Amino acid sequence: MSDQFDLVVIGAGPGGYVCAIRAAQLGLKVACVEKRTTLGGTCLNIGCIPSKALLHASEMYAEATGHMADLGITAKDVTIDLKKMMSFKDEGVDGNTKGIEFLFKKNKVEPVYGTAKIAGAGKVEVALNEGGTRTLEAKNIVIATGSDVMPLPGVEIDEKRIVSSTGALSLPEVPKHLLVVGAGVIGLELGSVWARLGAKVTVVEFLDRIIPGTDAEVAKQFQRVLKKQGFDFKLGTKVTGIEKTKSGLKVSVEPAKGGDGDVIEADYALVAIGRRPYTEGLGLAEAGVEMDERGRVATDAHFKTNVDGIYAIGDAIAGPMLAHKAEDEGVAIAEILAGQSGHVNYDVIPGVIYTAPEVATVGKTEEELKEAGIDYTVGKFPFSANGRAKVNKQADGFVKVLADSRTDRVLGVHILGMDAGNMIAEAAVAMEFGASAEDIARTCHAHPTLSEAVKEAALAVDKRALHM
Ligand code: FAD
Ligand code: NAI
Repeated sequence: MSDQFDLVVIGAGPGGYVCAIRAAQLGLKVACVEKRTTLGGTCLNIGCIPSKALLHASEMYAEATGHMADLGITAKDVTIDLKKMMSFKDEGVDGNTKGIEFLFKKNKVEPVYGTAKIAGAGKVEVALNEGGTRTLEAKNIVIATGSDVMPLPGVEIDEKRIVSSTGALSLPEVPKHLLVVGAGVIGLELGSVWARLGAKVTVVEFLDRIIPGTDAEVAKQFQRVLKKQGFDFKLGTKVTGIEKTKSGLKVSVEPAKGGDGDVIEADYALVAIGRRPYTEGLGLAEAGVEMDERGRVATDAHFKTNVDGIYAIGDAIAGPMLAHKAEDEGVAIAEILAGQSGHVNYDVIPGVIYTAPEVATVGKTEEELKEAGIDYTVGKFPFSANGRAKVNKQADGFVKVLADSRTDRVLGVHILGMDAGNMIAEAAVAMEFGASAEDIARTCHAHPTLSEAVKEAALAVDKRALHM
């Protein structure tokens, strides 16, 4: 086995494995080092895939025990076999991670299982999982080491009672009362899983709103829907400590702005206050690789660090911590290293929260446009006026299209609604092609589909929605 490579990728998450495959497709000799025993990174092992498996299973349960009755279906004796649900999730993870092994074989990417350290220009030293070390020589190195859970000062995550997302994906029982710290994506997705399965869920959020960064109107309506589903929100509140007792947990909270504290009793707590780049033990300081002010690997617009031959992508660098952003960066850097012109359009990166209903957004929010002083027009259409959503009795939410007042170019699309995650792809394609709201409005959309609401919202930009 040769130890000379054109490219060594460190980390086999969506950034790293996609980069390795694309580089190999372009004729480079590639190794991908991964310290886990399976490929796929956070996303496939403890992130996107297992969380979506549990969201799917818990949604089926919620349908069977709730919404289905509205459709004339009576499901009797519906029970949860949590152990089996967990095996279903694990099988999904296994199938996906094995899929990457297959893709590596097919594309002749060599996986190297062990912990990598950059040992100087063009050298990666791997402490192999099977024992021993192996030194790989590389013309270029791509750091794709991802991110890790952000700790909450003073709270020890034991992954049993006080869990991160990783522990929350494998709880041994349905909590009676799950306290979630952080009303972000993880808190609301995994909070939904356990709420649907029967837990009381209280979300404590430092800010006075949920899902910061998302269009405020969407966030407000989303919060209302989650409240209807049983979520209890304590906004503008911080957790100051969690004490373990014989019967569970005592969570101390305080108003974020100061004032009298309170204690909330729960049996499980999920800490979900963000993630931070993971570069521990990589030898970056010794290699002279600069970090930015937030502990991320600093790169230029072409993913290059300040050290020749060392690049970085994905959660380890600036930008949204999303699998598809990491993947697109993986493709772009592979193409750049193969002499092509790889590129990522950061203005058009969709974001989806896979709750029910889903939240999906792409482009600028109203708040961002206001702050940038850009004049815009809003077109909005509620799903309560969409035939398909109405007949499905899943009509919560709306589509909002934001267009430049002067040129009509679409600047942002924000959707709260069933299947919003699939619908947002249309908006992303439109924006990638520089579409105007009129372009979407004049595109024939199949009837009866939820996506007609996107067309209607685009029509509403010009105040000519048809079904409202
Ligand atoms: P990672 O996926 O974190 O992969 C990095 C890999 O590098 C890891 O496997 C790690 O073991 C390895 N590594 C690190 N250091 C070394 C070393 N020194 N040597 C060898 N290997 C090393 N994003 C979405 O877009 N959609 C979702 O639905 C979604 N759901 C999520 C749900 C949860 C619960 C979580 C936690 C995250 C979710 N994300 C989601 C975010 C997504 O998982 C990340 O954005 C994505 O995995 C980042 O990819 P990456 O390749 O940069 O890093
Ligand atoms: P997040 O950044 O989405 O949300 C964290 C929340 O915690 C914020 O609302 C923040 O104000 C709040 N917070 C911070 N400190 C706090 C404190 N001390 N007390 C109370 N609240 C506090 O982070 P989250 O949910 O942990 O997710 C991490 C990342 O993982 C996200 O940035 C996202 O990119 C990615 N992810 C993506 C998913 C998707 O695309 N569907 C699903 C899950 C995760």
